Amino acid sequence: MDKVEWDDVQGLVLSGYPRLPYSAYVLFRFHPERPDAARAWLGALAGRLMRASDGGGDDGETDAPTLGTLKRAKGADLHAINLALTARGLGQLPAGAAALKDFSVEFVEGMAPPTDPVSGPARRTNLLGDLGDSSPATWEWGGWNGNGDIDGMLMLFAPDGLALQSLIGDELATMAQAADPVRIASPGGDDPRLMTGRVYDDRKEHFGYTDGISQPIIEGSPRARRGGATEDDKRIHHVKPGEFVFGYHNERRVRTNGAGAAELKRNGTYLVFRQLEQDVAGFRDFVARAAAELQGPEDATDKEEWIAARLVGRTRAGKPLACPAAHAHDPSDPVARHSSGNDFLFYFGDRFGLQCPIGSHIRRANPRDTKGPDPDTALRLSKMHRIIRRSRMYGERYDADARNGEGRRGVLFVCLNADIAGQFEMIQHSWLNNRHFGDLYVGTDPIGHSQADGGAIVIQRRPTNLVLQRPKPFVRVRGGAYFFLPGIAAVRALAG
Ligand code: HEM
Repeated sequence: MDKVEWDDVQGLVLSGYPRLPYSAYVLFRFHPERPDAARAWLGALAGRLMRASDGGGDDGETDAPTLGTLKRAKGADLHAINLALTARGLGQLPAGAAALKDFSVEFVEGMAPPTDPVSGPARRTNLLGDLGDSSPATWEWGGWNGNGDIDGMLMLFAPDGLALQSLIGDELATMAQAADPVRIASPGGDDPRLMTGRVYDDRKEHFGYTDGISQPIIEGSPRARRGGATEDDKRIHHVKPGEFVFGYHNERRVRTNGAGAAELKRNGTYLVFRQLEQDVAGFRDFVARAAAELQGPEDATDKEEWIAARLVGRTRAGKPLACPAAHAHDPSDPVARHSSGNDFLFYFGDRFGLQCPIGSHIRRANPRDTKGPDPDTALRLSKMHRIIRRSRMYGERYDADARNGEGRRGVLFVCLNADIAGQFEMIQHSWLNNRHFGDLYVGTDPIGHSQADGGAIVIQRRPTNLVLQRPKPFVRVRGGAYFFLPGIAAVRALAG
């Protein structure tokens, strides 16, 4: 098994920093006339970036912050900093510019390549479904309005709001000579601002669901070594490191070494960032109306919960609708209740979507053992399309009584993968936005932003399926970019 150099990998790969629920995403542009200042800043920053090592003895430098030292950190030391660069940013650093040809096309082109006056939106814009209200023409950053020039992003994590403000102040002062922060102006006329995110104590996103439950577990990582997982958890979620970190074997048994840029890419990965605005009032209204019209099932005491759970595939509290794989032959088996909450498959226990609808969010986002010639192969194939999610919420929480429905809120969707086209884009395009996913006739992801077909949502049921009409998507893309999350040695090389 590959031994990953965790002391050279940025901490975000292994942790969502639960002790640091406040975060800022400082987009920046290098000062083009001061390349030396940019390199000096990166060189100094490298030693302060949070590393993924758990402090188990493989730390290269004893004073560098690691996930191990973070566990014990107090006061001003209790924070984490990570850095990501776009292709445009890499291109401004000599070592990066020389290596760019060995980065993937989608990374180099970016999330929102310019539209062509003759042929229209670029292929990537179409495949991501970034059309209509979600078109890059309407984005607040990263889009086509002259706001796409982003060189990189500093990610700052802190335990509370005050600590975050002080961390932002310190880091902006440190980078002042090298780069300018990009402040985002919203159409509502708010003052231009830095993007900030939160994880709430209850771990719920704005629609009201617990999030961040299902994640791949990197083989050989501290979490995989800790044990405690059921055999089914391992079978379903253990994924080879090369799917998420360059330089190691992936699920195709190929070493993702980055061709000519092997040294620069080693221990790095790609980071996808999407600002996804959520229409919480619209979503709640839709769920309430659908529940009011629901004829049966008679045993659904809370019809809104029944509908809401079937849109995502988990109850709002996070309980999966599909039963654990080990009990697929008898879902009523009481032992089933003692599973880890993530050790379920679909093929044997729920092939037709009667427990967890085929078009629900989690079944589209990770079809587990259902997309392939047989369930074992399908499970193996699905591991080639996993992502590590590190999303956080932005904006005030919706409060119907306080009438703050007009407020702007949503998910700062962050995911990590070594192959943007094969992982993030594949999930978004071929599964979430696909009307014919799993032999369905209509409908796209219930909480996705795509408006491919007017928004039918199908819930499998006996004797007939329930078909709901979603008036419009509840999610709108407001910005986004593809980044590279380099290893620590690579940050030093870029500074050299
Ligand atoms: C506003 C937008 C979104 C919301 C509110 C949302 C919410 C959720 C929730 C509540 C879960 C279930 C909890 C969990 O398993 O962690 C989930 C799972 C997941 N979501 Fe999303 N999500 C959003 C967008 C996306 C996008 C754009 C993608 C990928 C392109 C995605 C990929 C996934 C994946 C891979 C899972 C785990 C599925 C599994 O392994 O069972 N989500 N999401």
